[in-house]
Formats: sequence, structure tokens, C-alpha cells
Amino acid sequence: MEFSIKNEVPEKLRSTCAIVGVYENQTLSTTAKILDQSINAYLSDTLRRGDMDGKLGSTLLLQKQPGAKAERILLVGLGKEKEFGDKAYRTAIAAATRQLGKTGATDGANYLTDLEVKNRDVTWKIRQAVLATQEALYRCDQLKSKPEAANKTLKALSFCISQHADLAAAKTALAEGLAIAEGMKLAKDLGNLPGNICTPTYLAAEAKKLAKSHRLAVEVLDRSAMEKLGMNTLLSVSRGSREPPKFIIMHHRGGATGSKPIVLVGKGITFDSGGISLKPGAEMDEMKYDMSGAASVMGTLKAAATMKLPLNIIGVIPASENLPDGAASKPGDIVTSMSGQTVEILNTDAEGRLVLCDALTYVERFDPACVVDVATLTGACVISLGHVASGLLANNGGLANELLDAGQQACDRAWQLPLWEDYQEQLQSNFADMANIGGRAAGSITAACFLSRFTKKYAWAHLDIAGTAWRSGKEKGSTGRPVPLLTQFLLSRAGQASRAAGKSKRK
Ligand code: BES
Ligand code: MN
Ligand code: ZN
Repeated sequence: MEFSIKNEVPEKLRSTCAIVGVYENQTLSTTAKILDQSINAYLSDTLRRGDMDGKLGSTLLLQKQPGAKAERILLVGLGKEKEFGDKAYRTAIAAATRQLGKTGATDGANYLTDLEVKNRDVTWKIRQAVLATQEALYRCDQLKSKPEAANKTLKALSFCISQHADLAAAKTALAEGLAIAEGMKLAKDLGNLPGNICTPTYLAAEAKKLAKSHRLAVEVLDRSAMEKLGMNTLLSVSRGSREPPKFIIMHHRGGATGSKPIVLVGKGITFDSGGISLKPGAEMDEMKYDMSGAASVMGTLKAAATMKLPLNIIGVIPASENLPDGAASKPGDIVTSMSGQTVEILNTDAEGRLVLCDALTYVERFDPACVVDVATLTGACVISLGHVASGLLANNGGLANELLDAGQQACDRAWQLPLWEDYQEQLQSNFADMANIGGRAAGSITAACFLSRFTKKYAWAHLDIAGTAWRSGKEKGSTGRPVPLLTQFLLSRAGQASRAAGKSKRK
């Protein structure tokens, strides 16, 4: 699909389908009104006849009208004008895209991008329009023997704006939106792949592919290299699996030499059966998504590289399976982590923190500006925040606020939980420095407390994406989250970096 930005009034723009909005009390949007005047008030008449109530997400397709430059007009319900905010905007765009895909239109001119959205500028509107559109068009048919009948007719879509002054910002936003959407697509495709295909070895191969196409440096450590580094907690998770673990390191070197890197660490458990502490059977298939943190780190690096962000960014992925076997770790086993701290594995299903803690020690060598880990870490996070917000815990208030703001901006929100000292005692072990579980109470917090013992040397934040990385049920599939949050965080940091560079040049 070809995307473009158009700064052209609807009565002049030639297209096979013009998309305009109508609010719930039957008021046409500003653009729809202009279009209406050029076609003899056909839209107002349609509303008066009661064919379209303007309910959010409803659509009505109208055929060519005399005098119109568009072969069709797609009316899209926007809901109540007063309530038209972030969510409604995205819903309307997605509904429009889905409907457009069902028509014979070959190109669309989407005027919804010109609507007023409370507190949002043209950059936000265009970026979000791209993301909502790509989300509506996404299919995962990699493994269907015959790809589902996807729309092949629609070839081009333009997002329309009315202010010529916004053109440059809109074009930049389009490029950024497409980069983020590409990153999300990678994260979704990897997440949706089954465990028998998407193994640690597969993830490493994909990382190498990505590095090649996007000029990243990549390194993959195998088991023996990990043994030499003393990554025994990570290796303890792999013991029960026939698939060898991989430790993947990717570099985007876009920043000034010597500027400290932002490090992203993604949990890469390609299947989590629980190990000897076996999970119940229901919905266990969804544990193929336990590498969603890794997938989002790869997706974010892809987006950052495409946007050529002037930052040094490092992605680190500890990848392993977690399976039961004669050689698997057992409850009560004690292992020495790369940091030297010993861990009593009371539950082999709390494996995410075991692979992450060694990765978090490993990244010390990069002298990071900050480290953000991303992990489908705890079922408890789904209980506390549901499928709406990712959990955020951090040892640094400034970094936490940056990530919370990025989530707001990107419509990929996180919510902070406390990481108070008081919770640490739940990890007490009689036999090792710590246990790998902290009991039923505050499960997401004690998981982060465990990680915090390995992140003392740098500013660190942890995103628990157990509830947000994928959808269950009929709509089962990866969401591509938190690629939007992470890329927005990087975009903001890149903005700061270039502003600082500008200032020092002027001196
Ligand atoms: N990958 C799971 C967390 C998870 C569970 C994510 C369900 C999404 C849905 C993680 O490895 C895990 O099993 N965590 C345990 C920890 C417990 C044993 C302390 C959990 O949450 O039950
Ligand atoms: Mn587990
Ligand atoms: Zn897991």
C-alpha cells in the first residue's frame, strides 16, 4: 500500500473513495460540509433521511454523485463531538479502513485526519492514523496453506490535511508512523509464530536478518559463551529444552561516538510450559507469546533504524525455552547468577526473571544511559492492570515519567507500581541470597524487586507486558505493544539530543 499526504480540498481531490466524518447528532465534520456543498447537499439529505446516525465506528458507503470528483464517499460515524478524543479517533480510522477494504476502491482519500482531536496536533494525528490503518489491515496468514482472501484492490491511501502550513510536519509524521508500523508488524509476526518455528535459534536468525537489512551490528552468544560468562540463571532455564539458548545483542549506532547507549532488554522465552512447575493445560498455547518482550525490542530497533534516530541503542535478548525434562531445573535448585548472587529456584515457572537477571548484569559493560527491560513477566500484572496498561516499575523517577509520558503520547499506556524496599523481604531464602518467587501477594512487584537486585549500577525501568502483548479468544493475536511506547520514548530522547546539539553549536 502506498501512503501519502494530501493538502487538497475534497471537492477537488480525485479519488475512488473520499472518507469523511459525521458526528452523532447528525452534524457533518467541517470537511464533510465542504464536500456536501459541492454535491448539492447530498450528505445532509442522507442524514435527514436517517440512513446514518453517526454512531462511533458506523459507516455508510455512498455511490458517485454528480459533480463529485470522488467515485464514492464513505461516511464514518464519529460519535459525540464533545467526546471525540484519542480512542474515538483511532476507532473511526480503523472502521473506515476496514470498510474501505471491502469496497472496490483502488485508492482512498481519508479526511478524518483533518478532524479536531482534543490536545493533539497534526504529527500525532497522522502517526496514529497510520498505526490504526495498519492495525486494521494486519493479517497473520504466514502459515495458512491458502492466504485468506485479502483485499488486493486497494493500492493507495492518502491522509488529507487542510492547512498548507502543516504539510512538512505531516510528511515527517507519515514517515515516522510507517516506521513504527513496520516495527509493530515485525513484533506481531514474531509473536504470532508458534513455538516449534520461533525457537531461540530462529530469533537469532531473524536478528541477523534485521541487522543486515537495517545496518545494525549483531552478535549472538551460544551456550558455551554464556557458560564462560557465568550466566547460570539463564542456563538453568534452558536445561530442560533440546533447543539451544541464544543470547542476542544488536546495536544501532546512530548517536555521537561516546554518547551513552539506551539499552533495551527483551524477555525471549519462545515457549513457557512452566518447566517442572508445569502450567495447567488451558490456554497454554498462548505461552508462545512469552517472547513478546524480545519481539518488541527487535521491532523497536527496526523502527529506530528506519527513522535513523541520532541515538546509540542496544537491544539485548536472552532467548530460551522453558520445558520439563530429566535434566530440567527442579524446585529447590540453587544457581549462581552472573552477578555472583545465588538464587533458590522455588518455582521453575518464574523463569523470566532468571533469564533477565543475567542479561541485566551483562549490559553493565555498555555503561548505559538507561536500561529498559520488557517482559511478559507475571500473570499478576494481568490481574492488576488487565489488558489496558502495561505495568511499569523503575529505580529512577525521571526515567519512569519519561516512559509514562511516551505511553500517553503513543496511546500505548503504562501504569506505575511501587518498587518499595518493604516488598523485598518477600524474596527471602533460607539457603541462597534470594528466592525466585515472593508468594502470591504483589506478584508483579516482587518480580520487579528480584530484577532490581541486578540493576543497581544504572537507571532502570521494567515494563511488564503480560496483559498487553497479545489478545486472547476469538481475536487472538499479538498487539505489537509496547513498540509504540518504546519508539516514542526514543523519539523524545532523540529530540532532546538534537536540541542539546543545536544549543552547543550556537555557543
Ligand atoms: N510468562 C509467565 C507470565 C504470564 C502468565 C504472562 C500468564 C501472561 C499470562 C511467567 O513466566 C510466569 O509463569 N510467571 C508466574 C510467576 C509465578 C510462578 C511467581 C506467574 O505469573 O504465574
Ligand atoms: Mn513462567
Ligand atoms: Zn514466562
